[in-house]
Amino acid sequence: MKNSSVPRRPKAPKAHPAPLDATPPAPPPAPMAAKAALSVGGKSWELPILRGASGERAIDVTDLRAATGLVTYDPGLGNTAICESAITRIDGDKGELLLRGHPIERLTDHCSFVEVAYLLLHGALPTTDQRARFSELLNRHSLIHEDMRMFFRNFPEGAHPMAVLSAMVISLSSFYPELEALSAKEEADITATRLLSKLRTIAAFSYKKSVGEPFVYPSYKFSYCENFLNMMFSTSVSPYRAKDCEIQALNRLLILHADHEQNASTTAVRLVGSTGANLYASIAAGCNALWGPLHGGANQAVIEMLEGILAEGLTAKEAVRRAEDKNSGFRLMGFGHRVYKTTDPRAKIAKTLCRETIRRKRLEEPLFHLALELEEEAAKSAYFTDRGLYPNVDFYTGLTYRALGFPTNMFTVLFALGRLPGWIAHWMELKRSGAKLMRPRQLYVGPGKIPSK
Ligand code: SDX
Repeated sequence: MKNSSVPRRPKAPKAHPAPLDATPPAPPPAPMAAKAALSVGGKSWELPILRGASGERAIDVTDLRAATGLVTYDPGLGNTAICESAITRIDGDKGELLLRGHPIERLTDHCSFVEVAYLLLHGALPTTDQRARFSELLNRHSLIHEDMRMFFRNFPEGAHPMAVLSAMVISLSSFYPELEALSAKEEADITATRLLSKLRTIAAFSYKKSVGEPFVYPSYKFSYCENFLNMMFSTSVSPYRAKDCEIQALNRLLILHADHEQNASTTAVRLVGSTGANLYASIAAGCNALWGPLHGGANQAVIEMLEGILAEGLTAKEAVRRAEDKNSGFRLMGFGHRVYKTTDPRAKIAKTLCRETIRRKRLEEPLFHLALELEEEAAKSAYFTDRGLYPNVDFYTGLTYRALGFPTNMFTVLFALGRLPGWIAHWMELKRSGAKLMRPRQLYVGPGKIPSK
């Protein structure tokens, strides 16, 4: 493709000045690097090479099919950048994760989840006034329409909270149709804040439904995380008062999940958003994609795996040997990652947080000791180290949720609660970029044309 057809790059979203702990805005992308040459059947083309803010490079195949008749083939999308984004950067080789330029370690040490949600949505950490207004909006929009409560009643006993969450999210579009008019920025902010607040209420109500207890309403008295813990664990006969260590642990857990660039569920949100579907429809798609055990459902699968190993009386060494055996059908859940080929930085933070929470709550948790032994054994296994298989975010977070009193079937709902600001930020970035409808191609391998009779 000749230089004249170099595709126009949508302008990167303008970075807001970061009022606190200013992080220098990402350096402007370096000038276009050398082009890639493609030659097929004696013909050759030049393809532009795009360069990201951290030096990663991409061959731009936007016009490939038009110019050459060829398409690329990448079924797991592991070699394909589907967009430009200024939200999150992962370095899978170094084990680094930055949200709007801030290292995850700094955010979990110094910020609340509400501040990180604001950072993801607005591009900078909030000033004191911005934070106060954001918290006020979160509180104001924390109730759900009373008619929605009836929905909960009609779910069968034992319905998985993720099924309830997904159904309730999509039903928000029926109760708050003004979202369709999402044009001005302030409407977008209100809609995002409304969803952030209501999802927390829906999550707590889906738990109460699953245990047959009356709903506990949000209260102005509490912060975002304290409110959630109260709605989850208070009952009319035994009021629950969250301890500081529990509130802090939940803040950190939600921050660890807040965003992770183009993972499967965020890609689902972007894909549905690219059709022009509204925010609630896109977020419901994200919830459904997250549920799978290879993705957000892994935190539940980790606990079930640990319980299974204990129940079978296996040692950590025996379990790792079994995971190495392809014919066993057994995988070490919570290990491995499409991008990280070293330890997921979130797993390190989650491990420390898990140990601290268990200690401060004076719990005996044999599953945590087993998890530590599994990590130690896997680190000595060539099978695991040769494949770059290390603990990911799900390996220790489930154990921490469990230490906080959450039931296993709520873990993926908690993942969704944490990931929501990231999903919304990507949806808004997609809308603001004027992105095209996502419609990939295929290689057809079915029967040839069957002549009509
Ligand atoms: C999340 O993308 C994100 O960012 C996701 C996430 C986020 O924040 O959004 O980080 C959250 O989803 C974390 C991942 C949670 N999933 C799990 O913990 C499930 C267990 N892990 C896997 O199934 C697997 O590691 C994946 C799905 C996470 C990644 O798999 P890939 O990149 O597709 O790699 P693969 O399945 O092709 O495996 C490569 C090799 C294979 O062996 P070989 O064919 O080379 O002989 O590694 C083996 C696999 O069999 N392997 C494992 C393993 N994971 C991969 N073997 C044993 N146990 C495992 N857990």
